[in-house]
Amino acid sequence: MEKLFQQFTFSLPTRIEFGAGAIKRTASLMSETVKGTRTFVVTDPGLEKAGLVEPVVKQLSEAGYKVRVFDEVQPNPKDIDCERGGVVAREFGADHILALGGGSVIDSAKAIALLNTHEGAIAQYAGRGKVSREVTPVVAIPTTAGTGSEVTRSAVITDTVKKLKFTVKDIRLAPKLAIIDPETTYSLPESLTASTGMDALVHAIEAFTCKAATPFSDVWAKEAIRLIFSSLRAAVHRGTPAARTAMMLGSVMAGIAFSHADVAAVHCMAEALGGLYDTPHGVANSIFLPVVTQFNAEAAPSKHAEVARLCGLPVNGLSEAESARLLVSELEQLARDIGIPRFSELGYVNPADFQALAQVSFENGSTPTNCRDITCEDYLALFRKAYQSA
Ligand SMILES: [Fe+2]
Repeated sequence: MEKLFQQFTFSLPTRIEFGAGAIKRTASLMSETVKGTRTFVVTDPGLEKAGLVEPVVKQLSEAGYKVRVFDEVQPNPKDIDCERGGVVAREFGADHILALGGGSVIDSAKAIALLNTHEGAIAQYAGRGKVSREVTPVVAIPTTAGTGSEVTRSAVITDTVKKLKFTVKDIRLAPKLAIIDPETTYSLPESLTASTGMDALVHAIEAFTCKAATPFSDVWAKEAIRLIFSSLRAAVHRGTPAARTAMMLGSVMAGIAFSHADVAAVHCMAEALGGLYDTPHGVANSIFLPVVTQFNAEAAPSKHAEVARLCGLPVNGLSEAESARLLVSELEQLARDIGIPRFSELGYVNPADFQALAQVSFENGSTPTNCRDITCEDYLALFRKAYQSA
């Protein structure tokens, strides 16, 4: 009954343009959506090398835009790079920011958009409610099917001194326009397709199972789970346009879902690990997904049985608890099939750090929305269990 009368807000301030070849319409779509002609492009060196940046810059220049490319974004985006980007964007006089890349690039672009109109260090805007006025408009072109950041209102940034990740959340950070072109992912290597795809799957599962889920976020989360689980292996191993397109759709839907619900304990642990060791975000999520799912399913078997059904697993005749157990083993199997390393295989993890990692996970703003109440001791046990699982 409680669920029937809950209150929620649904607001999607991002115009979504989806389709193969959409990137070729960037200049005209931007002219319809954001003001000004000075475009600050945020990207990373790998995308420049892959040849994705130059055609967009050419297209914009031919349409009369003045373009400055900032390619200093690193994985697990760093506060210092965002702050430098903010300085360069101000010097350039950016009217808008064009993010061309994966989650690190888009989150950095949001931070740079914030620092283009606000003083100080990016860490002082951590949390909610710290952004006092409009930020420079962001246009996002995702080049991975994973982050969902192109439709979310948050940026996850690494504090390079404390080795912690923090999240800046404000609806003004949401991109004004997302140009989502599955063709940008056609040449993505297998390992990146796998890790970013697992990130998207975790967004969808956590959005659906967390305490902040709403009837509206459930609609997006369910379809995202279905699309991603059924397409990820094919996207990694065969890279077919159909699988790539399904992954891109699933990733965007998962982004809409979790930005209207939340992520949960898997992300709390993954962000702690990524902050300390720079572990790729999707790999960290993938490592913790089975152990957290098992932990959560004990308290919420019916939700997790529903996830198993959405994944297309053969659950007919199984109890909810059996369905949830099948889900845990299939999530583990999916990670193995697409080549994600095990926790103990990363090679740089020191179990002596687990206590500190558990504490950081516990303090994450998404801990309270995990579907099962979770303590610091629970997190410690989950880090140990994930490390021992073979
Ligand atoms: Fe994520």
